[in-house]
Parts: sequence; C-alpha cells; structure tokens
Amino acid sequence: MIRFKSAALASAALALSFGGFALAQEEADQPKPPRQEWSFAGMFGTYDQAQLQRGFQVYREVCSNCHALSIPFRALADPDGPGYGEDQVKTLAASYQVTNAEPNDKGEIFKRPGTPADLIPRPEAYPNDQAAAAVLGKAPPDMNLLAKARKYERGFPWFVFDALPGLEYQEVGSDYIDAILNGYTKPDDPQWNLYYPGHKIAMPQPITDGAVKYTDGTAPTLSNYSKDITAFLTWAAEPNLPERKKIGLRVMLFLFVLAGLLYFTKKRVGEAAH
Ligand code: HEC
Repeated sequence: MIRFKSAALASAALALSFGGFALAQEEADQPKPPRQEWSFAGMFGTYDQAQLQRGFQVYREVCSNCHALSIPFRALADPDGPGYGEDQVKTLAASYQVTNAEPNDKGEIFKRPGTPADLIPRPEAYPNDQAAAAVLGKAPPDMNLLAKARKYERGFPWFVFDALPGLEYQEVGSDYIDAILNGYTKPDDPQWNLYYPGHKIAMPQPITDGAVKYTDGTAPTLSNYSKDITAFLTWAAEPNLPERKKIGLRVMLFLFVLAGLLYFTKKRVGEAAH
C-alpha cells in the first residue's frame, strides 16, 4: 500500500513538472472515477455472495426496466457467484415469460414460462434497441459485459503495475459504474453526470436512497445500492475473475521458485568450476 502511495506521489510530481496545470484543468472538468474497495479486487479477491444477491435484486427491481442482461438464469446458481439454489433459479425463471425459439406446430411464435437454460428476457417495455432509443434518446447498453467494456486510462505509473499478472488492477469498469450512479451532482439537470464522458447522459438518475427494500438488514442507501449492483454486474461480466486471479498467483509463485532454483543451480555450477 505504502509503495503504491509513494508511486502515486511520484507520478503527481511528474505530472506537475510537465505542465501539470493543463492536466489538472482537464481532470477537474472530467474527473476519473474514484477508486473503491471491492471484495473481488486484489490477488485474493472473491465475490461476496450476499452482495451479489442484493445486486441482482437491484437489477431486477430497477435496472431491468430499461437494460437487458443477456445471461442464462442458471448462471445465477454459480457457487462462486450469487449462489442461488437450483430450485430458487427454477422458480425465478418460471416467473418470466420467454419467447420460444421455435414456432409451434401451427407455425405460431409463442411465449412460455422460462427455464434455467433460457436467457433472462429483455425489458418488456423495449423489445429491441430501436424501440428503447426512440423513447429514451439512446439505447441502454446490454449489461452482460458492461463492467468489462468500460475502461478509462489510468496513466503512469499504473500501467506498469497493470502489466503484471496478479498485481494488475482490473476493477476500473466497476469503479466507473459506481461513479456513474453517484455522478448526478446537478439537481437542476437530470441528464448531467460528473463521470459520464462529456457529462450529457441519456439515462436520468436511475436509483436513489430507499428505492429498493433489502431484507438482510443492509442500509437502503444509494451508496450501498451502487456497490451491490456494481459487484453483481462485475460478476456477470467476469464470472471467472477469482479463478483467473488464482492462476495468475500460481504463475507468479512458479516464476519465483524457478528464479530461486536457477540462482542456486548457477551458484553450484560456479562452485564446482573452482
Ligand atoms: C429509464 C431507463 C433506465 C433505467 C431504469 C436504468 N438505465 Fe442505465 N441507461 C439508460 C440509458 C438510456 C443509457 C444510455 C445512456 C447514454 O449513453 O447516454 C444507460 C446507460 C447506463 C450506463 C452506461 C454508461 C456508459 O458508459 O455507456 C450504466 C453504467 C448504467 N446505465 C447503469 C444503470 C444501472 C446500474 C441501473 C439500475 C440501477 C440503470 N442503469 C437503470 C437507461 C436506464
């Protein structure tokens, strides 16, 4: 942590010496999303099951009115993810009406209750992107890859760390989503967002304090909703993140051991030669 902080200081000093004034101006106009604490960040990060379940609740009750989330229901049973029981997922899927892929014997397209293998259906109000754009000004992006697709430049010195397996900070997309939800800082302009590039966003503030009733005692605040839905969307986009991190860690360990072995081998060979 301390090393990271001094690195940040060094980069700040560097930025200042390179005509940092213009840079600071730009930052003030379009600030970077603040970095948050995520359970899934870092080398040993994992998803917090209760948080993902709250996040799904927020998606279901609020975001799903406009945003599609094209993942199969059965993904919600992922034990490293939201970890719902098989029966819970079955009941949940059956509570949705999905359009059958094939027509029936009479050639009619028909609807039926969902099964765990079906994708979560699109928002009912907007059968396609054009319909959504006609009403909302712009089509809301599908949320299945949102947390992965949104990136911003972290600049020096971060890109150096970002290149190392296990050390890289992969949560920029999560910080971005959280920042957007908290970025409606001009009460008189509902389409102004501090963190949206250019500030003019087609989505009016989707969620505020008290909008969703949690049942596990978590406080119903915008700050908690934002964290929870963001964690859920991060899992949806990167369900294998903890697994990938474990592999990265093993690679680092392996390289470390290999370096040690090479060192001692070299020493032994050197001694034998004398
Ligand atoms: C009233 C419809 C509506 C609701 C409800 C809604 N959104 Fe959106 N959302 C939109 C639209 C429209 C856009 C496209 C905005 C743009 O690019 O200008 C969008 C875009 C976004 C973006 C992406 C911005 C980008 O960089 O492309 C995020 C993140 C987002 N929504 C999160 C959420 C979350 C989380 C929820 C639920 C808490 C939610 N939205 C609920 C309509 C909605």
